[in-house]
Amino acid sequence: MIINTIAELREKVKEWRKSGLTIGLVPTMGALHNGHKSLIDKSVSKCDRTVVSVFVNPIQFCPGEDLDKYPRTLKEDEALVAEAGADIVFAPTPKEMYGEGHILSNDFLTYVVPPYFYVDKLCGKSRVGHFDGVCTVVNKLFNIVQPDYAFFGEKDRQQLIILKKMVKDLNIPLEIISCPIVREESGLALSSRNKYLNEEQKKDALALSKILFNIKACYNKGITDTKALAETAYAYLNSNHSLEYLEFRDENDLEEKKIADDNTIVFIALKIGDVRLIDNIKLS
Ligand code: PAF
Repeated sequence: MIINTIAELREKVKEWRKSGLTIGLVPTMGALHNGHKSLIDKSVSKCDRTVVSVFVNPIQFCPGEDLDKYPRTLKEDEALVAEAGADIVFAPTPKEMYGEGHILSNDFLTYVVPPYFYVDKLCGKSRVGHFDGVCTVVNKLFNIVQPDYAFFGEKDRQQLIILKKMVKDLNIPLEIISCPIVREESGLALSSRNKYLNEEQKKDALALSKILFNIKACYNKGITDTKALAETAYAYLNSNHSLEYLEFRDENDLEEKKIADDNTIVFIALKIGDVRLIDNIKLS
């Protein structure tokens, strides 16, 4: 069942609450793939009812990013959600979510702004304002659906850490469930942006997972100096790659690690042509 308005969704949620049902929310921007399906499956098995939101959130795109060309595949998304056994696709328009305000200027919108320490690094460094847009829309979705559980993928690990912090700091009464990265057999992490890659770029994209798997193997052999671990990446890079970052950070607070341990996450962002891909791995 597809719902486009906040009012209609609220009515549905009210009915479920009256019947004492638990509610899971899977926030997405659509172009759903098996990574999203794993989140939906988890919600369906844990909750009585599942809402999947499909909303390409304009306020989390920075100027010059891919807002206009971001893949929009609502029909296919609806089919995947129904097949996975979820109950509702919530697909609002930008106007439904933000009114006229944001179209005129973002100055007319109340934002949820995560702590600077969490956003001045990794993706937040090049995507200034991105996490303000993510926290704002996710907060709105939480207020609209009032779920017991919300499901997010570890693929966007910085986002996951920031959203957990937001839920804690703002006493939002729900639990965030994190779900492991789903990879192709080749190792490539599933992402809606993989649709932008041509065949040659897809081969180049394997560098991300190869670098991460190799760093983990080196760590397992006893190398803990993160500078030495980072240097192993160069063997996998060619002139088609533009490395944005390769960083070692704590899994809870994103503090930089000089010496890796079992709580370390290795984060990578790489550009191949115009396509920017991210991935990460935990060293334990
Ligand atoms: O991870 C995403 O797809 C988006 O950032 C999210 C969480 C749905 C917010 O728009």
